[in-house]
Amino acid sequence: MDTPKVYKNFICGEWVESQSGRVFENRNPAAVQELIGTFPQSDARDVEAAVEAAAEAFRHWRLVPAPRRGEILFRAAQMLQERKESFAVDMTREMGKILVETRGDVQEAIDMGYFMAGEGRRLYGQTTPAEMPNKFALSLRMPLGVCGLITPWNFPMAIPSWKIFPALICGNSVVLKPATDTPLSCYHLVKVLAEAGLPRGVVNLVTGSGGEAGEAVLAHPGVRMVSFTGSTAVGRRISEACAPTFKHCNLEMGGKNVIIVMDDADLDLAVEGSVWGAFGTTGQRCTASSRLVVHKTLYREFLSRLVERARALKIGNGLDPTVQMGPLISRSQLRTVQEYVQIGINEGARLACGGHPLEDPEHACGFFHEPTVFADVHPKMRIAQEEIFGPVVSVIPCDDLESAMEIGNGVSYGLSASIYTQDIHSAFVAMREMYTGIFYVNAPTIGAEIHLPFGGTKETGNGHREAGVAALDTFAEWKAVYIDYSGKLQRAQIDL
Ligand code: UN1
Repeated sequence: MDTPKVYKNFICGEWVESQSGRVFENRNPAAVQELIGTFPQSDARDVEAAVEAAAEAFRHWRLVPAPRRGEILFRAAQMLQERKESFAVDMTREMGKILVETRGDVQEAIDMGYFMAGEGRRLYGQTTPAEMPNKFALSLRMPLGVCGLITPWNFPMAIPSWKIFPALICGNSVVLKPATDTPLSCYHLVKVLAEAGLPRGVVNLVTGSGGEAGEAVLAHPGVRMVSFTGSTAVGRRISEACAPTFKHCNLEMGGKNVIIVMDDADLDLAVEGSVWGAFGTTGQRCTASSRLVVHKTLYREFLSRLVERARALKIGNGLDPTVQMGPLISRSQLRTVQEYVQIGINEGARLACGGHPLEDPEHACGFFHEPTVFADVHPKMRIAQEEIFGPVVSVIPCDDLESAMEIGNGVSYGLSASIYTQDIHSAFVAMREMYTGIFYVNAPTIGAEIHLPFGGTKETGNGHREAGVAALDTFAEWKAVYIDYSGKLQRAQIDL
C-alpha cells in the first residue's frame, strides 16, 4: 500500500491548500481501510481565487493561435500515454473499476487530447457568399471565457478530458471541480497539462463538495459557462442556477438504456454484449445497458445464458487481473442498489440471480454487490424506469420490433439504445425510431468513441453534445462577420 499523500488545489499555476485548511479523504472502495490521500475541502474563497486566475489567464490564452494551443494538448496526450499504466492503477484504487477499464478511461483522455490538438488546425467556420456585390461573409468560433467544469466519479479522467480539451482548444480557461470520490485522476490530468506547458491560470483545479465548491462555481458571475456530467436531479439544479445570469450550461445526465434482442439475433453475441453492457463498470455508466428487451421466441434461452454468465463473473479488487467486476463507488451507492433490489422484489419482478451484497471476508472491506438479473420485468416497474447505477439489469419480454421500440422509448431518459438483429430492415428502423443520442447495432449501449457526438435526449441532456466536433459548439459561440468592400452603403434585404 502506498503512503497516503496530501494533495492540493491548483490555482494560478500554484499548488495550494484550501483557504480554510480543511481536507477530505479519498479511500479505496474495494478496501476502505486504504486511504489514498487527502484533498482540499474548498469553499467559495478558493473558487473565487480560481475564477480570478482563470479570468486573468483568459485574456492572453484566447490570443494564443489555436495551432499553438493544440501543440500543448498534443504534448499532454503524449504524457498521458507515457503514464497510462500508473494513472490506470491509481484510478482503480480510487474508484474500483477493473484495470482493463481504467486503462480504457485513460486512453479515452489520450484520444481526446490528440483529437482536439488536431482541431487547433481546423476549428472550421464557414465562408459563404454575401447577398451584395463586393461584400464577404464568414463565421468564426469565439471562446466563451471561464468555463466551470463539474465532473463525475465514474469516468474520472475521460469525462474531465472531454470537457477540458475542447474548452482549451477553443481558447477558454477553466475551473475544474471533480467529484469528491475521484479527485486523484483529475489531479493527474491537471498536473500533466501544467507540465505540458499550459500557461498559469488557464486550468485551475478546486476540489471539494458540490454543496460548497460546486455551488460557488455556479454562483460566480465570472464563470460564463458550466459543463456538468452527473445525475438528472443535480443537472436540474445546475440549470436553474445558471438561468439568472444566462450562463451557458451543458448537461450530460442519466440514462436507462435498452438493448433490444430480436428473434433473429446472434444469441451468443447478444448475451456477451448484454453482460458487458450491464455489468461493465459495475453498471455505473450513464450508458449502462440496464434494460434488456428480448423477443419472446428466445427469451428463455437468452435468460438462462445471461444468468449463467452473470453468476460466473468474478467480483473483487480491480487490480487483480482475474477479477471481472469491481465494487460500487461508495456505501451510499451500495445502499441505493440494495434498495432497488427490494423495490424490484416488492413490484413482483422475478429475481433470477444475485440480489445481495458480498459480505464474506474477502469482500467485506469493500462495497461489493452481486451481479443481479431481474426477469419478467414489466416495463413500467420502477426498476425498469429509474437509473440505478449499479449491477442490476431488468429483462423484459417483447412480441415484436414495434413493441420493443415502444418499451425502449418509454422512459424519461434518452442516452443510448441498441439492437441485436441480422435483419437490415429492423436495424435501420430501430436506428431511426429510437429517440436517443447514441445508437448501436449488434453491440451493447456502452463504448462510445471520442470523435463522435456524445449526449442524449429528454432528461439525459439539454441539447448539447460533448466529444467530436460537436463539442466545439458547446465550448465556443459563433460570430458572423460581414466585410463590405464596395465603398458604399449596401442595405441587406433592401438594395437587391
Ligand atoms: C458515462 O457512462 O458516463 O460510451 C460515460 C461509454 C464510455 C463513456 C461513458 N465511452 O460507455
